[in-house]
Amino acid sequence: MKYYIGTDLGTSALKLLLVNVDGKIIKTVSQGYAINYPNPGWSEQNPEDWWNTFVRGIKELTIEVNPNDIRAIGVGGQMHGLVTLDQENAVIRPAILWNDGRTDKQTDYLNTVVGKETLSFFTANIAFAGFTSPKILWMKENEPQNFIKINKIMLPKDYINYRLTGVHCCDYSDASGMLLLDVKNKCWSKEMLKICGVNVAQMPKLFESYEPVGTLLPAVAVLLGLNPNTIVVAGAGDNAAAAIGTKTIATGACNISLGTSGTIFIANDNFSVDKYNALHSFCHASGTYHLMGCILSAASCNKWFCESVLKTDDYTDEQSSVSDDMLGKNDVFFLPYLMGERSPINDTDARGTFIGMRMDTTRADMIQAVLEGVAFAIRDNLEIAKASGIKIDRSTLCGGGAKSELWQKIICNVLNIKIDIPETEQGPGYGAAMLAMVGDGNYSSVVECSEKLVKIKATISPKKEIADRYEKQYLKFKEIYPSVKELFKKIK
Ligand code: XUL
Repeated sequence: MKYYIGTDLGTSALKLLLVNVDGKIIKTVSQGYAINYPNPGWSEQNPEDWWNTFVRGIKELTIEVNPNDIRAIGVGGQMHGLVTLDQENAVIRPAILWNDGRTDKQTDYLNTVVGKETLSFFTANIAFAGFTSPKILWMKENEPQNFIKINKIMLPKDYINYRLTGVHCCDYSDASGMLLLDVKNKCWSKEMLKICGVNVAQMPKLFESYEPVGTLLPAVAVLLGLNPNTIVVAGAGDNAAAAIGTKTIATGACNISLGTSGTIFIANDNFSVDKYNALHSFCHASGTYHLMGCILSAASCNKWFCESVLKTDDYTDEQSSVSDDMLGKNDVFFLPYLMGERSPINDTDARGTFIGMRMDTTRADMIQAVLEGVAFAIRDNLEIAKASGIKIDRSTLCGGGAKSELWQKIICNVLNIKIDIPETEQGPGYGAAMLAMVGDGNYSSVVECSEKLVKIKATISPKKEIADRYEKQYLKFKEIYPSVKELFKKIK
């Protein structure tokens, strides 16, 4: 039997999947690592922690399998993070992550001085604080001693691929989120590199996600206990990988992810840009394109509220006190902007906010408000897609938050669309394993692989009375941020 390893280099944990050639998940391993918040709104991780966790995790994952049967590895991972290597390929400073908000000034410079139109012309996107190029500008301005040392710029999952193969590589889906790629033409934008003060020699080599970039370095094969002929494919940004793992490939197909971030991912065979660049226009791991809206805090809001505030990790128990007849009737609202917000408001100063509590407000009301606030923020992004003429009447749902039946119902009724629940909620890791299968020649295309392997185990449909109630609630939610927006600037 042939086996494949799918990896999701997430923000809170590394998830590894051992998948057989028939698509069956044989074993999963999940190991957490620290996120450091050295200043308010900043977030960093050590690439060495990712690698050490990966090495430990692979050993645990493959312990019962003959290493010669493991054919290929695919890595999907958190997007946009800036990893910089020096001449010796040593990491220069901790990685600055996708949800780091320190680049206000640089994002502003890009959007106003270079100009949104120019950025969109070069890259199909405008600047958001979490994207990679504002981080490069930040480093240039604030850490010139580090900036001059940069020999290679890469993204988080590419660091793992580099350690595995010795190749400085990146795939088009993840490269799209750097604001350095000419997304339409799939090449580095010379103009954007110049604006950021870097050159093409500092950038990794570009591949399609399913293309092999190499095999394991001999010493790494020994370290991992794997065969040195094991193929490593280029992999993908976690959202594109999740789209593969949920069969979100045909034009108009949609996937919603409830991970640390929340995303709405809309596949498109053709390149397109929405009118105000409110949605990201990126390459897909299947070789095509997609549009995406991203909220910075989704399942992380629930984790924060349960673990840091209520001091419990029993999410199921907390949610059991929210009954169906409470849906759409909550007077408590929550703005999920714990790390500022990306799409569509693009505001690094925005913060999490509860509003509407009374003396009779319960713990359950607040739990419910957190789940609903995330759903409303995702709806904000769905509205942008609808306004640009895209019709979405159903979506798959993946990510840790997708395991909650309550949250599934809330998303379904707030968005008023059908929700398909795939057999595994581990979209990115499963998609990455599928990319590895394609790279190993088991399937002629990503489309063929996903047609064969991805199964939907349940579909949830909106209930009219609940969806109607949520429609009214959403209108109230929409008024909250504009009312407190200016205040956020004062309290940061
Ligand atoms: C997408 C984004 C997040 C991260 C999370 O643009 O920033 O979804 O990829 O891992």
